[in-house]
Amino acid sequence: MEHTLAAMPTERRPGCPFDPPKELVEARAQSPISRLAFPDGHQGWLVTGYDLVRSVLADPRFSSRKELMKHHPLVDFGDIEVPPAPPGEFLLMDDPQHARYRKPLVGRFTVRRMRLLTERVEQVTAEHLDAMAQAGPTADLVTAFAKPVPAVMICELLGVPYEDRGRFQENVDKFMNGETGEEELIAAYTAVQEYLAELVAAKRANPTDDVLSELTDSDLTDEELRGMALILLAAGLDTTTNMLALGTFALLRNPGRLAALRAEPERAVEELLRYLSVAKTFQRTALEDVELGGHTIKAGTAVVLSYHTANRDPERFTDPHTLDLGRQEGGHLAFGHGIHQCLGQQLARVEMRVAFTALFERFPTLRLAVPAEQVALRPETADIYGVKSLPVTWLD
Ligand code: HEM
Repeated sequence: MEHTLAAMPTERRPGCPFDPPKELVEARAQSPISRLAFPDGHQGWLVTGYDLVRSVLADPRFSSRKELMKHHPLVDFGDIEVPPAPPGEFLLMDDPQHARYRKPLVGRFTVRRMRLLTERVEQVTAEHLDAMAQAGPTADLVTAFAKPVPAVMICELLGVPYEDRGRFQENVDKFMNGETGEEELIAAYTAVQEYLAELVAAKRANPTDDVLSELTDSDLTDEELRGMALILLAAGLDTTTNMLALGTFALLRNPGRLAALRAEPERAVEELLRYLSVAKTFQRTALEDVELGGHTIKAGTAVVLSYHTANRDPERFTDPHTLDLGRQEGGHLAFGHGIHQCLGQQLARVEMRVAFTALFERFPTLRLAVPAEQVALRPETADIYGVKSLPVTWLD
C-alpha cells in the first residue's frame, strides 16, 4: 500500500520552529517513502526515512541535473523547459561534469586547511562580538554576527574583497530567502553574474593568494570560474548564517548550553546540525526505473528528499526530537551524502564551533529580546530555513 501526501506542507507547527512540519514527521511514521502530488500535477515521491534518503544520495541512478528538475514541490511552473545548469554551477550537475569542477576545489577545503583558518575565524568572531558589545545591550544577532562572520571568511577564502559585499550579499539573500518575485530574482542573478565576471577578470590580471586566483591557473574558462564562484558564495553565505542564527535561538532555550559548548563543542555543533537541518530538502530525478523501499520509481520522476525528517528518524537516532548537545550518535545528513556532500562542511564546522563558543562565553546572560513566538521565521519556500532576524539582549 502506498502512503500518499496530497501536497508538500508549507507550515511548521506554531511554537515548534525547530521541528519539521508535522505532516512530514507523520509521513515518515507511516512509511519512509510516500507518493507526493506536485502543484503542476506531477506524481512524484517524498523520501523521509534516514536509510532511504542516504541510499538515494549514494545512487547514481538519481540525478541532480537542473534540466531534469521540471517539477517543483511548492510552485507550479507550468510546462516550462528548464535549461541545464550554466558552466561551473556543479551542484546541479552529475558526474563526470560535476567532478570537473568539484575536483580542483576538494584539496582547498580539507579538514587540515580549514583548521589552519581557526585563528582567523577567532579574530573575525571577536571583532564582531566587540562591535556588538559596544553598540549593545541589544542587537539583531543576524546582522551583527550571523551574517558577517561567515561572509568575511568565504570572501577571504575566495578572494572577494569584503568591501564589495554590497554588490552580491543582498542579491545572494534574494536567491535564498524564498520570498523574492521572479523579476527581482532575475535582476539579482544578473547583478551577481556581472560582479563575478569583473572579479574573475581581475584575478586573471592580478592573481592574489586565494582560491579563485589559484583556479585561474587551470583550463577552466572565465564562464566556468564565474559559475563555481557563484555556487561557493551562495552555498557558503546563507547556510552558515542561518545555522548560527537559528542555532543561537535553539541554544538560548537550552540551559546546559555553555557547559556543553565548553566540554565538547564539536559534539554540540554536530547535534545542532542534525536537529536544525537548515538545508532541509533537496531533489533528485530518477534516470531509469529504480526499486526503492518496495516501490518502483519510474524514470523521469521527481524525488524529494527530506534531510530534516531523515535526521529525526527514530529508527536511526534515539529520542530524535530532543536537542541533546552531548549526543554520541553521529552520521547525520545535514551536509548531505554522496558525490554532492557539502564541500564547505569543514569550514562551516570551524566557524560554528568558534562562533557559538565565543558568543556564549562573551555574553553569558544573552537572551531573546522578544517573546520566542515573535521571532520572524523564514517561510518553507526558502531553500535554507532560518530566522529573518533574532533580537537579543544581555546584562551590561
Ligand atoms: C552549516 C552550513 C552548511 C550546511 C548545512 C550545508 C549543507 C549542504 C548540503 C546539504 C549540501 C548537499 C546538497 C545536495 O545534496 O544536493 C551542500 C553542498 C554544497 N555546499 Fe554546503 N552547507 C553548509 C556550508 C557550506 C559552506 C561554508 C560552503 C562554502 C565553502 C559550502 C559549499 C557547498 C558546495 C560547493 C556544495 C555543492 C557540492 C557538490 O555539488 O559537489 N557549504 N551543502
